[in-house]
Amino acid sequence: MRQFIRGIAESNHYQATHLLQILRQIQSRYHYIPEAAIEELSGLLNISRTQIISVVEFYSFFHLTPKGQYELLISDSITDHMLGKENLLDYLVKKLGVAIGKVREDGLVSLDNTSCTGMCDQGPAGLINGYALTRLDHPTIDKITELVNQQIPLDEWPCELFQVDDNIYKSGLLLGQQIEQGAALKSAFKRGIKETLAEIDKSGLRGRGGAGFKTATKWQFCSDERESERYVVCNADEGEPGTFKDRVLLNSYADQVFEGMTVCAAIIGAKQGFLYLRGEYLHLYDKLQHILEQRRQSGLLGSNILDAGLDFDIEICLGAGAYICGEESALIESLEGKAGIPRNRPPYPVTQGYLGKPTVVNNVETFLAAAGIAVNGCEWFASIGTEKSKGTKILSISGDCARPGIYEYPFGSTIQAILNDCGAVDVLGVQVGGPSGTFITNQEFDRKLAFEDLATGGSFIVFNANRNILDMVHNFTHFFAHESCGFCTPCRVGTSLLQKQIDKIVEGHGSAGDVVALEELCQLVKNYSHCGLGQTAANPILTTLERYPDLYQSRLKEISYEPGFDLDGALETARRMANRDDAGAHLTQTVASVATLPPSLAVGE
Ligand SMILES: Cc1cc2nc3c(=O)[nH]c(=O)nc-3n(C[C@H](O)[C@H](O)[C@H](O)COP(=O)(O)O)c2cc1C
Ligand code: SF4
Repeated sequence: MRQFIRGIAESNHYQATHLLQILRQIQSRYHYIPEAAIEELSGLLNISRTQIISVVEFYSFFHLTPKGQYELLISDSITDHMLGKENLLDYLVKKLGVAIGKVREDGLVSLDNTSCTGMCDQGPAGLINGYALTRLDHPTIDKITELVNQQIPLDEWPCELFQVDDNIYKSGLLLGQQIEQGAALKSAFKRGIKETLAEIDKSGLRGRGGAGFKTATKWQFCSDERESERYVVCNADEGEPGTFKDRVLLNSYADQVFEGMTVCAAIIGAKQGFLYLRGEYLHLYDKLQHILEQRRQSGLLGSNILDAGLDFDIEICLGAGAYICGEESALIESLEGKAGIPRNRPPYPVTQGYLGKPTVVNNVETFLAAAGIAVNGCEWFASIGTEKSKGTKILSISGDCARPGIYEYPFGSTIQAILNDCGAVDVLGVQVGGPSGTFITNQEFDRKLAFEDLATGGSFIVFNANRNILDMVHNFTHFFAHESCGFCTPCRVGTSLLQKQIDKIVEGHGSAGDVVALEELCQLVKNYSHCGLGQTAANPILTTLERYPDLYQSRLKEISYEPGFDLDGALETARRMANRDDAGAHLTQTVASVATLPPSLAVGE
């Protein structure tokens, strides 16, 4: 083991920033991070044991105790549940003879749940030793069981088990064309670097990761910093359940994404770039390395790119199963080899990012669009979309529709038009933007895809009339509690309390007072959490509570109450206890219609 650890430390140049990549290799070889490895690494990388342990404990793909030789993780995304995941998990437990969260006695296999793996268009999905498994069903589980029991090495397994399709159903500006390799850089150098930034500015391009910050402004801020060292980071963490478009962009348009990163490097003056690739997309790693190597050989990466005096290269860093690492400052911490805990902002990454140096972080799709604009000019992009949302948006569509997959739409398209295209019928509602986004009902399908109306990083999950929306709320609330990094109390404790409270209501043990308390708790988590995860963790509850108060009411337990109970007084007490005038506002009507009221309300629970 000592020799192995020394070998990987050496190939990572003994850099502490590479800790995550080193731990990934150790985990893959030993199926856990042995104490002896931690001890050895501590000396080699000059970091304390406790720091290494805290990193191991932070990421869900690292373990301090052994997992099975075959580590099987099944995606817990709501779309996998909709595709019958529960039944499959029961079948797996029976066939493999291992309980969920356990290692089989012979140490050969372990089984557990994992957060969304980015395969919602071809679920139920899972991971085996980090590699994506798609379209799981009983026959594939039989096959997997056989292969595991015969101890067949993973690289000899039938490739159809690992088949990941792009499923592109609608192309537009970005997906409809493949830019010739080097074309964006050549155009940028020909036009001039400053002029290219101006072109991107005029195009109106806004970040595609969700928040929609203007890309040219971000790049300008970064280049204005008085530092000689700057970095470009492509955020391919894509952990929001229901999002998988970056997976497709990196599978089929990676060259253009790297080209967009290189254009950015030329503009801001960066020499080093990183692609932060979520661990769940391990299957893309070799292919992406190959494309980078090709670009080096074609003079599009490395020193003196296209003889224009630009030195720039890109390194791929794999994540290790932490949704929070999609948040840009947490991502930078992770790139530095640490636990992905979001930093205080300001300072923003453009002034103090990777290693404290100015850093641009952009989404995969943003870099792809920037490359397209560099080639085709600003009008090509700006002539499409709405006044505040230029160009197109690539959506990952999943859930109850005939054709789950990738769709590119001009901003301003209506939700109804999108539903028609993907073959969704009898739709109850759509979750736009993943768990942190908004749930809209079938009364709102004339709303538009746009930053000024429905903004989304790309997740679009359809629910038909047979679905119970509370199942979705339950799943999303558990997701946030699981993914909270634990750094700040409102989110760490709040998401866990939200989970308990939702469980209680969904299981039919909640009172009207519980719902009032739930709403109040939502406001606390939303208003006092440190980062975007906590600030949006209550969205699934708040958006559905507003739209479906009856649904919550239908799950309240029935308790007979003494005649003459003062309903208004009880509600008033609940609000006073919650110290908010509007707490429970959406529920007044609901509670008023409950014939019997729980005594707990009277004591302001
Ligand atoms: C919890 C959380 C997760 C996020 N995940 C992602 C992600 O997977 N991909 C992404 O591009 N942005 C993600 N973001 C947004 C990033 O912080 C950042 O705004 C984005 O990468 C900037 O790129 P853009 O300007 O191109 O959108 C996330 C934010 C939060 C709060
Ligand atoms: S809001 Fe949640 S995820 Fe964000 S820092 Fe606080 S605990 Fe971590």
